[in-house]
Amino acid sequence: MSDFEIKTKDGLARIGKFRTRHGTVTTPLLMPVIHPGRSEIAPAELVSEFGFQMVITNSYIISRREELRETALKRGVHGLLDFEGPVMTDSGTFQMYFHDLPSEEIDPLEIVRFQRDIGSDVGTILDVFSAPDVGRQQVEHDVLTSLKRGEMSVPEKGDMLLAGTVQGGVYTDLREMSARRLAQLDFDVHPIGGVVPLMEQYRYSDVVRVTLAAKRHLPPDRPVHLFGCGHPMFLALATALGCDLFDSASYAKFADDDRLMLTSGTVHLKDLRELPCDCPVCSSTTVEELKRTNKSERRSAIMRHNLYVTSAEMRRIRQAIAEGELLQLASARARSHPSLYDALQTLLHRADQIERSHPVGTTTSVFYTGPETAHLPVYYRLHDRIMTSYPYRRTETVIVVPHLADTPFAETTPTVVDLVKRTTPERLIVVYLTPFGAVPWEFEHVHPVQQSVFPRYLDADTLNTVRERALEVLTTIEADEVVWFARSAPTQVLFEAVSEVLTMTPLETAAEVTEHVTKTASGVRHRAWTLRKLRALFTYQWGISDTGRLEQWNVELSRATGKIRYIREGEDILFTMMPMTGLLIPTYEGGLALEDMGLPERYYVAVNDEAAPFVAEGRSALAKFVKNASPELRAGEEVLVTDEGGTILAVGRALLTGEEMLTLDRGVAVTIRHSQPSQ
Ligand code: GUN
Ligand code: ZN
Repeated sequence: MSDFEIKTKDGLARIGKFRTRHGTVTTPLLMPVIHPGRSEIAPAELVSEFGFQMVITNSYIISRREELRETALKRGVHGLLDFEGPVMTDSGTFQMYFHDLPSEEIDPLEIVRFQRDIGSDVGTILDVFSAPDVGRQQVEHDVLTSLKRGEMSVPEKGDMLLAGTVQGGVYTDLREMSARRLAQLDFDVHPIGGVVPLMEQYRYSDVVRVTLAAKRHLPPDRPVHLFGCGHPMFLALATALGCDLFDSASYAKFADDDRLMLTSGTVHLKDLRELPCDCPVCSSTTVEELKRTNKSERRSAIMRHNLYVTSAEMRRIRQAIAEGELLQLASARARSHPSLYDALQTLLHRADQIERSHPVGTTTSVFYTGPETAHLPVYYRLHDRIMTSYPYRRTETVIVVPHLADTPFAETTPTVVDLVKRTTPERLIVVYLTPFGAVPWEFEHVHPVQQSVFPRYLDADTLNTVRERALEVLTTIEADEVVWFARSAPTQVLFEAVSEVLTMTPLETAAEVTEHVTKTASGVRHRAWTLRKLRALFTYQWGISDTGRLEQWNVELSRATGKIRYIREGEDILFTMMPMTGLLIPTYEGGLALEDMGLPERYYVAVNDEAAPFVAEGRSALAKFVKNASPELRAGEEVLVTDEGGTILAVGRALLTGEEMLTLDRGVAVTIRHSQPSQ
């Protein structure tokens, strides 16, 4: 059974702890490929000098050479490599494909037993590599052969972790079938195979399609390995697909013919007049010196450069995940090659798949990087939730306030905000038109509305997205009249786009708007607008529409900012508003109130009776004790934790999705914020 723990999530990517018999590693990570018998850089140095954590070598090559085979069987693969860290082995699948070897060259069971017998930490089945240009029938046949071999290999694995490779060529349905059926077997790691030729041909978009297809069916508690992926320009994007392990022989292969790997692509030494890199190799030599030195030293220098660059990119990727900014890093990398840009588009077209895995309640700022920004999962989610949960759909007047600039959001519309605070939703609704869509005023403080930084100039693609989303939102609000608060010039493009479908009255100044709408302002006071906002928030955050109970609560505003701070019932605080996310956090009493208001099933997590007393004391709910959780539950959501009988033990923040909680055996599922007060 795989021993994998998810620590941090960002979209489909995760930072994980992967335990092997030779130590625990932090994923995502890249394993340099060690050529058995002629490794130019010792594995131990790959750890101490370059910062890698784990290596991969080839068991087929070891088994075919008498002296390597003998040593490996006697002293283990760790003895052979003189390395005490984790070692993965591959099976010879790639050699079979690359050298077109006959099928009897490798016995699929013997090679798994051999990997087990030499003490590999993670062995690999002998899957069948389908060349990218063979027809569908052949690919299907290869997938079925790989599955059969996988099935036969699992009982042979012993103490070794075993990798079951997903094949299926460029056919997403075959990838899905392969993944679904491998998931049923007792594997510990799932590589995505057969992608090397796709990457060599820069068909990154195909890699994205097939990897996402496989990811939809692979269990979240098993690391996913992208076989043969090691170019630093693609690693950020590959991690964003949810891949945890990478391996690469490219660092050496590229060095063979004087090619330097960079995060911006590959460059040939002969084309360089400077070394455009800050690694120790490039910092301590010049391009002329490097060109002059003999082949073997040059090769070694370039190889080391390639390793430094790759290792640094992996560190950057883990840092980006920790900050919730991996897609921004991938977007930056996508500028290096049009094929990468296409691949990024392909990924963001599956924003629904990423959104399901992306945590709620993050506080990361979003900086515009280009037309892809509006399609980030945070914006996909915001729009989707506004569409499904905005509670006010019938009004007299809608004021549309365009916000296309980089200026702070709320400060620019005090007049309109003042108006909306004095009216009821039946009379007036204010919708901000932002570069990422239409946002009703009630959600103005919900992340990422205030944390979005866009330029004044917007590209046509983004404008198009704004228009589509705006029309979707505005056409679901039935209004007698739509007023367009024109303000600054660049928004004219939007006005033209939206006014094709909606009849709007354009007004230029705040004074005009006030005069136009004042007849509807009904002198409603602070309490009414806070309730109006909170109703929208309860639907947005928890899908609660029966908010009658709100009438009995007191809402306390911050003296400094005027924003909602606390909700109380009598003396008890029920909810605290987090200023950075604009979302509510319940106290234990708040949790009881949520239950009372008909909190949907999705927000309950049940732990077994063994764990219940600990959770009731305020200890974290561990994944291995989770008895029930909804597949719809997102990581980061505020949930109620119950015992098996449904008694509420505590409230807390989910760190995993419902599916992950049910699958993982390691790590925290819910961090408890407040538990049952002791009797
Ligand atoms: N190395 C590169 N691609 C593959 C693959 O598809 N399968 C295996 N086992 N090894 C590989
Ligand atoms: Zn360098």
